[in-house]
Amino acid sequence: MGAAGLVLFLLLALPDPGTVQGKVVENFDECSWFFQNKIPPQGFDTQNRVKICQRYKNHYHFVTLYRPDLRIPVYSAYRYPCTIGVEKKFRSNPWFYEPQIDDRKASAEMTSSKDRSSDNQAVDADYKDSGYDRGHLYPFSFNENDSATATCTLTNAVPQKHEANVNWNKQVESIVLKLALICHKSGRSMYVVTGSANSTGSKLKNKVTVPEVAWTALCCTSPPGRINDPCLNNNVWSEEQSATTYDKDFSCAFKKKMEPEEDAVILTVRALQRNLSMIKIFDSCRGTNQDDEAENFEEVKTLIATVTSAENGGGSIRGWSWGFAVLCCLLSKTWSMCV
Ligand SMILES: *[C@@H]1O[C@H](CO)[C@@H](O)[C@H](O)[C@H]1NC(C)=O
Ligand SMILES: *[C@@H]1O[C@H](CO)[C@@H](O)[C@H](O)[C@H]1NC(C)=O
Ligand SMILES: *[C@@H]1O[C@H](CO)[C@@H](O)[C@H](O)[C@H]1NC(C)=O
Repeated sequence: MGAAGLVLFLLLALPDPGTVQGKVVENFDECSWFFQNKIPPQGFDTQNRVKICQRYKNHYHFVTLYRPDLRIPVYSAYRYPCTIGVEKKFRSNPWFYEPQIDDRKASAEMTSSKDRSSDNQAVDADYKDSGYDRGHLYPFSFNENDSATATCTLTNAVPQKHEANVNWNKQVESIVLKLALICHKSGRSMYVVTGSANSTGSKLKNKVTVPEVAWTALCCTSPPGRINDPCLNNNVWSEEQSATTYDKDFSCAFKKKMEPEEDAVILTVRALQRNLSMIKIFDSCRGTNQDDEAENFEEVKTLIATVTSAENGGGSIRGWSWGFAVLCCLLSKTWSMCV
C-alpha cells in the first residue's frame, strides 16, 4: 500500500466543522477494489451519508456507506476471499466504532467504542441490554485474521432480534459462503454487498434505528487485474476442495424481513435493485442484464439446491446441470470433484 493509502481515508466534506450533516463529496477511490469493476453501487442516496474505507491494523478490509441520522449502515461491500493481516481473528468486545465520523482529525482506524458517546453513530452502550444483537452486515465468519476482527465494528452492524440474526445466518450467510467457495474454486472472486432497508420505527435507546429488512447481493466474476488488488495478493487460504465445480460467472440476491421476521427469499439482482429503488449494485455481472437474468437465475437456484442437499452427504445434480456435471467430470476425470 502506498503512502497515500496510509493517510486520511475517510473524507467528509463538512459545511461546518464538527458536524457530519452535509454533503459527502469524496469517493471510495482509496478502497475501490471491494467493488466489482471498482465501481460503487449506483443509485443509493449519498446525501448525508458517510463513506468509510474500513481500516484496521493498517489495512483496509471492507467498505461501508453509513447513515449518521439513523446510526446504522446502508450497506457494507466486501470480497471473498480477502483475508488481509496476520493476527489471529477475535471477536472484539466491546465492538469498534469509527472515530472520524465524529472528528475528522481523529484516528483513521476503527477504535473500541467502550465508554464512548456519539451523536452520529452507534456505540457500545446503545446495544447493551437493548434486547438486540449487533447483526453483522459483512459476516465475521467469511474471512480469517484481521479481516474477520475488523467486521466487529458497529458501523457494520444493525440491530437484529437474536432469533432473526440466527436465521439470517442459516438462511442466507451460510448459503452465500457456500457459493463463495464454489466461486473461488473456479479461480474467480466473489463481490458481496449487504445492507439494510426500511425503518421499523423502533430505536435502541431512542438512538439506533431498527431496520425492517436485510438484503445481500453477490457477484462471482474475475477481478479486473492483480495490480493494486490486495485481495488477490494476500495469503491464499486453504479451503477444503470439496466445493461443487461451476465454471461460470454468476449473480443472485437474498432478502429477509427481519422484523417482524419472515423467511428469506432468493431473487435476482435486478429484482432486488427494483425493490430497493436503486439503479445498479454491480457495474457489470452475469445475470444483471435483462437478456441473461433468467438463465443465470435458474442455474444459481440449481447450484443452491445442490450445495444445500450436498450438506446431507452426496450432492444431487439434476435437470439442466446434468450435462454440465457430465462435462465437468469428463474434463476433471474425477466424479467426486463435481459433487
Ligand atoms: C493468517 O495469518 C497467518 C500468520 O499469522 C498466516 O500464516 C495465514 O496464512 C493467515 N491466514 C490467511 C487466511 O491469510
Ligand atoms: C419489494 O418486495 C416486497 C416483498 O418481498 C413487496 O411487498 C414490495 O412491494 C416490493 N417493493 C417494490 C418497490 O418492488
Ligand atoms: C420498504 O417498504 C415499502 C412500503 O411498505 C415497500 O414498498 C418496499 O418494498 C420496502 N423495501 C424493501 C427493501 O423491502
